[in-house]
Amino acid sequence: MKKTILGLMLASLSAPTLADVEFLHWWTSQGEIKSLDVLEKQLLKHDIPLQHSPILGGGGDTAMTVLQARALAGNTPDVAQIEGPSIKAWDAVGIVHSVNETGIKHNWDNNLYPLSVAINKTDTGYVALPITLHRLNWMWVNHQLLAQLELDVPKTWPEMFTAMEKAKQANIIPLAIGEEAWQVATLFESLVIAAGGVDFYYKSLVELKSNHIDSDQMRFALKQLRKISNLIDTQQPNQNWDTATKALASNQALFQLGGDWILGDLMASDINVPQQIGCYPAPQSHNAFLYNMDSFIFMAAPDFTQQQANQVADILADKAFQAEFNRVKGSIPVRTDIDLSGFNPCQVKSHNDFEEAVKNQLAIPSMTDSMAVNPVAQQAINSEIFRYYRNAEVTEEEMLRRIISIAQST
Ligand code: GAL
Repeated sequence: MKKTILGLMLASLSAPTLADVEFLHWWTSQGEIKSLDVLEKQLLKHDIPLQHSPILGGGGDTAMTVLQARALAGNTPDVAQIEGPSIKAWDAVGIVHSVNETGIKHNWDNNLYPLSVAINKTDTGYVALPITLHRLNWMWVNHQLLAQLELDVPKTWPEMFTAMEKAKQANIIPLAIGEEAWQVATLFESLVIAAGGVDFYYKSLVELKSNHIDSDQMRFALKQLRKISNLIDTQQPNQNWDTATKALASNQALFQLGGDWILGDLMASDINVPQQIGCYPAPQSHNAFLYNMDSFIFMAAPDFTQQQANQVADILADKAFQAEFNRVKGSIPVRTDIDLSGFNPCQVKSHNDFEEAVKNQLAIPSMTDSMAVNPVAQQAINSEIFRYYRNAEVTEEEMLRRIISIAQST
């Protein structure tokens, strides 16, 4: 009898039951919503309803602005999607719960990729829950249109331009791309890698070294971007990335360049990948693996205690959930102990390419997608790249001057 009462007393000391968990994120496309269903089901298994706070805007810039505003107002969500160096910046502010108890319980030191440990762990332990590993330098190809145009899959940018010009002549959209700064900037990253290789990309766009920004390779990459902007009519103003994916999937567009969240949307639309739409490294990728990773931070607040954060983090660290979430999202797991049988062949290729790239120091963080520099510099550079793409009056020299001044101000 005593034991039962003691047991009840101890149970009442555990985390007070959560009415629900408010999650702020920018996952609003068809594929992203399907992966959120996996997340919702996982929490419901533990009787915790998910309260969505979706913020429109792929890439997450707007979501981060909203999170900052809510933190300043003292009205943080319980959990927020986040990427890269911002994680440690939020931790330093002191309004983020530790996730270290979960990291120890799930042995993250030994079963996460070292890149993921580095992003999510400070010298006081884990401060964020790692959830996805996306590859950005993918080229998605509509095989039906490629065959109709009697083209092979381009491996170089000259071949890419030939294919895009032939598509345009046939009234096919050469490259599906949304008119958003982060999308154009992500495209530009692949052009920089093609122009100067991985080391040049790292020194110019991650380390922001002025003498690498002010270079022939960067001028060449800008010329290539201008060529693309001249090819793509701006009939897709303010198109989101997923409406671009719909154009690719519905045989209106020949190519799309972008992260494998595109795979998540293609699978959500029952498009057969890689048969109908194939996945290939962006032209002249030099075997690079340009990546970003999503994580969750748990915001400290009176109505979301450390104990409750530990409870939710433990549920979302579950291996089977992490596997299923990534399978649906189009990404690959950040845990190294997950079997990829049942994943799409493009995800298996991504995993194999990532492991190879890590071995050869060719896995590089995406600057434009929040994995490399502070968000102010990132967004400033992205918007300069977008302005150059949209306005033929902007010269390369003006672009380089502006990017160097942003780099020097970080
Ligand atoms: C990235 C994020 C992906 C996907 C993409 C498009 O920043 O890591 O999970 O959401 O934006 O919105």
